[in-house]
Formats: sequence, C-alpha cells, structure tokens
Amino acid sequence: MNEQHIPSRRTVLKTTAGAAGAGIGIAAGAPAAQAAAGSAPGSASAMPPAAAEAAPDTPRRRGSTMAGVPFERRSTVRVGIVGLGNRGNGMIGLFLALPWVRVVAVCDPVREKTERAAAKVVAAGQPAPAVYTNGEDDYENLCARSDLDFVYVATPWDRHFAMAKAAMLNGKHVGVECPIAMRIDELWELVDLSEQTRRHCMQLENCCYGRNEMRVLRMAHAGKFGQLLHGAGAYNHDLRGLMFSPTYYEGPWRRQWHTQLRGDLYPNHGFGPVANYMDVNRGDRVVSISSFGTPALGLAEYRAEHMPPDDPSWKETYIESDRTISMVQTAKGRLIRLEHDVSTPHPYSRINSLGGTKGVFEDYPARIYLEPDHTNDEWADFSSYAAEFDHWLWKEHANPPGGHGGMDYIMIYRLMQCVQRGLVPDFDVYDAATWTAPVPLSHASIKAKGAPQEIPDFTRGEWRKARSGVDSVKPS
Ligand SMILES: NC(=O)c1ccc[n+]([C@@H]2O[C@H](COP(=O)([O-])OP(=O)(O)OC[C@H]3O[C@@H](n4cnc5c(N)ncnc54)[C@H](O)[C@@H]3O)[C@@H](O)[C@H]2O)c1
Repeated sequence: MNEQHIPSRRTVLKTTAGAAGAGIGIAAGAPAAQAAAGSAPGSASAMPPAAAEAAPDTPRRRGSTMAGVPFERRSTVRVGIVGLGNRGNGMIGLFLALPWVRVVAVCDPVREKTERAAAKVVAAGQPAPAVYTNGEDDYENLCARSDLDFVYVATPWDRHFAMAKAAMLNGKHVGVECPIAMRIDELWELVDLSEQTRRHCMQLENCCYGRNEMRVLRMAHAGKFGQLLHGAGAYNHDLRGLMFSPTYYEGPWRRQWHTQLRGDLYPNHGFGPVANYMDVNRGDRVVSISSFGTPALGLAEYRAEHMPPDDPSWKETYIESDRTISMVQTAKGRLIRLEHDVSTPHPYSRINSLGGTKGVFEDYPARIYLEPDHTNDEWADFSSYAAEFDHWLWKEHANPPGGHGGMDYIMIYRLMQCVQRGLVPDFDVYDAATWTAPVPLSHASIKAKGAPQEIPDFTRGEWRKARSGVDSVKPS
C-alpha cells in the first residue's frame, strides 16, 4: 500500500520525549498501575499492556441490534474530519469529489495541517470549514457541533476509541481508520454504544472495496468456489523506512507499538475481505484465533544499519514479532490464515486467497483455478471473470480517483451514498469489532504459546441471519 505525504516533526519531538504521558500505549492499553510504575513504551522494561490481552466475554447491557439499521436520509451529508496526516489529508479530496458531501469541519492539533485541509475545501468550491486545532482534545468540540452527520477519524491508533465514542455520544455516525481500538473491552464498549446511541460506528476497511476482492466476493456468492473451506489475508508491507522516518508519520507512534504488543497489529486489511467472502456476521462467525510469532529482529537490525547513534529510537526495545501468523476458525469449521509483517523486506502483499470445493483464488499476482472452467492443473487468468463478476460499483466507476488503486474512492462513494439515501451500511460496528479483535487476541495467544483465544460474538447471535453486506445491490 502506498503511504505518501509529509507530516511535521511536532509529535516526533513530543512523543519521543513524553510517550509515557502523552499517548502511545499507556493511554491506549496499559492499566493505571503500570503507567504509574513508569513502564514507558520504548524503555527496556516496557511490557505488553496487560489490558490489551483478552478480556472475558462478559455479558453486557444491550440496546437492540444495529445490524440492518439504515442511516436517516440526508440530501447533503455533512462531514467532519479528525486527523489530517497522511491518511486524512489524502482522503479529504475523495469526500470533496462527491457533490452531495460537504466537509464542514476539520481537526488536527497541527495548525498547518488544518490550514492545508481548509484550503482544499475552499478550492473545491465549498465554504471554509470550521477549524479545530486547539490541542489534543479539540476533536470533542468538533463532535459536539450540531451541523454534522458523520465524523471520519484518521489519527494514531491509541486515539481511535475515544474519538469514536465522542462522535457517537454527540449523535454522530463515525467511520474510523484501522484498527478501530486496541482492546477487547473497548470493542465491546463501542458495540454497546452504537446500540445505545443508534449511531453507526464503522471500521473503514478500504481493502474490502478492492476490485479483485469485490469480484472474488461476487464469485463466492454465486457459488463459483463451491462450498467455502479456507482463505487467507495479510498485511505484509515493508514499513521500516517509513517507521524510522523523522517526517513521515506525526511522531514515532506507529513504530512504538512494536515495543508494546507481540501479535498482529493490523489484521483488518487481510481479514475484512476474507470475512466477507465467508459471510462472517451474516451466516457464519469467527470463533477462535491461534497465533504464533517469530522473533522480533527486523527493526533493530534496520536501526543498526540506518539510524545515527543519538537517534531517540535507540531507547526502544522491539518485541513485536517480525511475522505473526494466525489461524482463525469459523463456526462452520472454515479456516482463515492471517499474516502480519511490516518489519522485514517483502514485496507488498495482502495474500487475499479463497478456496472451496470447486477451486481456489490467490492474489499477488491474481490467479485462479476453478472446476469445471479449468482442468489442466495450471493457474488461469482471473481477468476473464471481470465482465460477469465485477461488482456494480466497479462497473459504474471504471477509473476511480484517489490512491490504493481506487478502492478508497469506491468505499467513500458507497458509504456516502448509503448516508445520503438512507440505506443500511455495507458494514457495521459488529464487523469493526470482529475485524479488529485479532489485535489483542493474537498478542494474548502468542503469550500463551499459541493457545486458542475465543473471539467474542459481538453480534450476540445475530450472525446466524443472512443479510447483505459489501456485496450490495445497486440502488435504484
Ligand atoms: N486504510 C488505509 O489504507 C490506511 C492508509 C494509511 C493510514 N491508515 C490509518 O490512518 C490512521 C492515520 O495514519 P497516518 O499515516 O495518517 O498517520 P499520521 O501520523 O500521518 O497522521 C495522524 C494525524 O493525526 C493527528 N492527531 C494526533 N492526535 C490527534 C488528536 N488528538 N486530534 C486530532 N488529530 C490528531 C496528527 O497530528 C496527524 O496529523 C492510522 O489509523 C493508520 O493505520 C490507513
């Protein structure tokens, strides 16, 4: 995945100097006692935050389900954007490309970033947005505005949970970059809050909208793979250069997660599409995960080769497995393999495979073998299925604008279409919690030498009902 753009050095300085207090990890996961004991992320004594481990699937107060609940119709969809770094700044243009969307407010503690975003809004012919740049908590004021329908969050991971909560508590639907939270109890809280506030809380998993992924999804639903058996997804992306860059991210937040957790930090890109193929939360559900991790050597080796001896990263001790491999089992007995590796040399791959009783698809590069179409034991051309099985969104938008091959635009277009027309969203808080659960659970499983960890049924039984998802029907 192409990660571009140039953030400032503000948080590099701030977070490096004050990670223990400011945010990374302690705010995200560690219990107060650990914070008080000074187990700062990046220090040699930094331990994985205990609270990031599997929390029991405790019974919870519940509102009625949010599965199948439509948005209220809006002729103009008013959006607020929180976090204007690489991702937020890149996504603004996609919201602005939709004539029925207005970007009403933007927020980032880095003033230049809000100014850059506001200029984009004005250049698109919209009124200047309200700007929130007064510190770390100004997003709360954005969320409290009465003229917003939807809040989009693209901030460091430890901020996602609080921001999603603030949006819902202020009556806004919210879409959050991945992962949506870092702990199981936080995932449950988001589920509860979505049900109680009747607001949608969504993981914006753009890879579910990739052209190949959507074609495979439609073929799976058409029975081309026979009965589904196994799939795989990954985030294997060499991020070493970006994670050690002093300017790419707004501070070292992403690298510092490698000092805190051992498991799969970013399962969503691989998990979401395969979960969709198997109708997870729509007829099947994922029940357990077993994870295994290699030693953590890649980042330290990269640092030794590339970073000067006085670089702040030398205070960090990396514990995150260079490669995490997880096996997820579904209620119907299917298997999903997840991989995560951002710290060794590797051409980009999300693996993206699906197998059933009639054949198999594998991506990177895309290739397929299905009976009765293929019988010679050789991979065949996947593009030959485009005309029949491409999703209507890809037929309607053959050359979508924006990054990541167009899937970012397709996702935002479809999501904003659902809000405008008052449709049921393609994915909901249950998908968000499910796709993110491997973050804490893979860490817990690795600590327990691969012991299976139960994945909660966030739907509370609703998963048994078939319902539509990303494989949507084109609205009339
Ligand atoms: N789906 C994708 O393809 C994709 C691609 C890249 C990044 N992401 C995700 O997007 C998110 C952001 O990543 P990034 O690469 O843009 O990081 P970044 O460091 O470039 O940007 C994060 C931004 O959040 C801002 N921020 C920090 N604290 C804030 C606060 N309290 N209030 C408002 N803004 C705050 C920072 O100032 C910064 O501008 C992450 O969750 C990342 O995983 C997703």
